[in-house]
Amino acid sequence: MTAVDSTPSSMASAEALLPDHLIDFLACRTPEAWISWALDNPELLLIDHAQCEKKAASTAMSLLYRYVDQPLLLTKMSQLAREELLHFEQVVKLMEARGIVYRHLSASRYAEGLRRHVRTQDPERLVDTLIVGAFIEARSCERFARLIPHLDDELAKFYRSLVKSEGRHYEDYLMLAQHLAPSLIEDRVAFFAERERELIVTPDANFRFHSGVPA
Ligand SMILES: [Fe+2]
Ligand SMILES: [Fe+2]
Repeated sequence: MTAVDSTPSSMASAEALLPDHLIDFLACRTPEAWISWALDNPELLLIDHAQCEKKAASTAMSLLYRYVDQPLLLTKMSQLAREELLHFEQVVKLMEARGIVYRHLSASRYAEGLRRHVRTQDPERLVDTLIVGAFIEARSCERFARLIPHLDDELAKFYRSLVKSEGRHYEDYLMLAQHLAPSLIEDRVAFFAERERELIVTPDANFRFHSGVPA
């Protein structure tokens, strides 16, 4: 890991990996202060990354259980759960190779900070859950891309592959939300974009993959 290179060329190389619609979907870019925080905590970054992959699989699995009457959702979530578990295995292997001991970490405030706004009755609950999924995937994708210029070759190569799959996951969640919603979802997307932005730009007590900026 090296010191943060916040030159326009470093930002531009990260941007080039991200589709325009994903950049537009997020209400803010990850602040440079978070990038520095991540580079100062390479072990926590990987441990929490492993946790995030596992949780992503588990979220997809819980949707498989709850919405058995939605064939498109079942196909997409089954594929997604498998991919997230594969990512999980890849992170754990990389941690082992680097001598990083996997330990339990408290969850960041991020996912819960979004999920607490999910409405409680279906179909609204499903639509909100899918929109939240889209934001988590889009932010993960953006953060992987932003970290790449600062990482060693092995980790950069891994994160480049993740930018592609998490970008696809964001698209799948958003497509499912649009497909399954009884009406337009623009207002809910705008609402969650603002909640997500707050979680990203405000001070946070602990460093995690989805944390805000250092307090
Ligand atoms: Fe993943
Ligand atoms: Fe994902």
